[in-house]
Amino acid sequence: LASSHEGYESFMHKEILESHLAVRETLRSMMRETEIVSKAIKSLSEARRIFVVGAGTSYHAGLMFALRLQKAGLTSIPVIASEHHYFRATEDDAVLVISQSGETMDSLIASKHYRANGARILSLTNTLGNSISHESDIALHTRAGPEVGVAATKTFTSQVAALLFLSSNLLGEDVEYLKEAEQTVTNSLQAMGYALEIGTQLCKKSNAYYLGRGLGVPMALEGALKIKEIAYIHAEAYPAGESKHGPIALVEKGFPVVFINLGEFVGELSNNIKEMSARGAETIVLSINNRLSDNKELKVWREVSVSVSDTRLAPLAMAPLIQAIAYYAAKCKGVNPDRPRNLAKTVTVQ
Ligand code: G6P
Repeated sequence: LASSHEGYESFMHKEILESHLAVRETLRSMMRETEIVSKAIKSLSEARRIFVVGAGTSYHAGLMFALRLQKAGLTSIPVIASEHHYFRATEDDAVLVISQSGETMDSLIASKHYRANGARILSLTNTLGNSISHESDIALHTRAGPEVGVAATKTFTSQVAALLFLSSNLLGEDVEYLKEAEQTVTNSLQAMGYALEIGTQLCKKSNAYYLGRGLGVPMALEGALKIKEIAYIHAEAYPAGESKHGPIALVEKGFPVVFINLGEFVGELSNNIKEMSARGAETIVLSINNRLSDNKELKVWREVSVSVSDTRLAPLAMAPLIQAIAYYAAKCKGVNPDRPRNLAKTVTVQ
């Protein structure tokens, strides 16, 4: 499996297209492994604070999880693994370390640091028998299967699914809605024609902004990271409301701004779109369900909308889309998406 991409254009392409299966298998195992999953939920629910640690793409999945908990009134602290020194835990805290490989040095060192603080350590990794799960009291797994492309794709989407499951359990929500998780990802994969069009457009640009609000922020961060990593396009992500406090200064005719619309704060987001298009920005909107561009007052270059049966599924609808946009931008540039320069699949140095 690992040595060939079996008729697909690249591993990245193949792995994006496998995302629905990765999500299905991850949720199946979460629901099947009731003993360890209940232990994990109990441990997180008893904690005074929940630290969520990760690097790169795994940090973005963790940020989404932490924000969901914070909004519901739990104290959850997202920590970039290499910055763990400035976030001290105590014995009453639980720490969830998220890592696809389970071998990222920054995340491993952070686990050891928090273990030394006396906190309970939980991990969410995609391989078995890795160093981070070895360091943890409770080891959970995503079941995305092997990922060869350097940039995380299906493993990120699986992390998001696992973290929706865990957060819903922690918040006492019914997890019925997750039955539609696989279908949501499939709906997103069916929008690949739009991703091709948007990626091909971004390929002509040297800069872009990704803006969102609420859970759209981690998705914007991930969208910007992906297009930097794979297509070498300079992209920055901001909470959309922050964009008027500085970033908007760079916007002129044709500057691309990708808005992530997860169905929250739609009025505010629409105002941000107006502000950007008034400066000549080329606005792209990635939405769930309702299209913002139905409002004819908004000048939108292109909008894609993925249908979801429950707004909590929105991050799962966005993930394949932002990945595919980066993929098609790389393809348009003629660069190999599986082997981005200067990057490694697993970083085992600090
Ligand atoms: C590297 C990879 C990224 C990944 C990060 C964290 O930088 O290039 O794609 O997100 O490591 O990896 P992990 O295995 O800990 O999730």
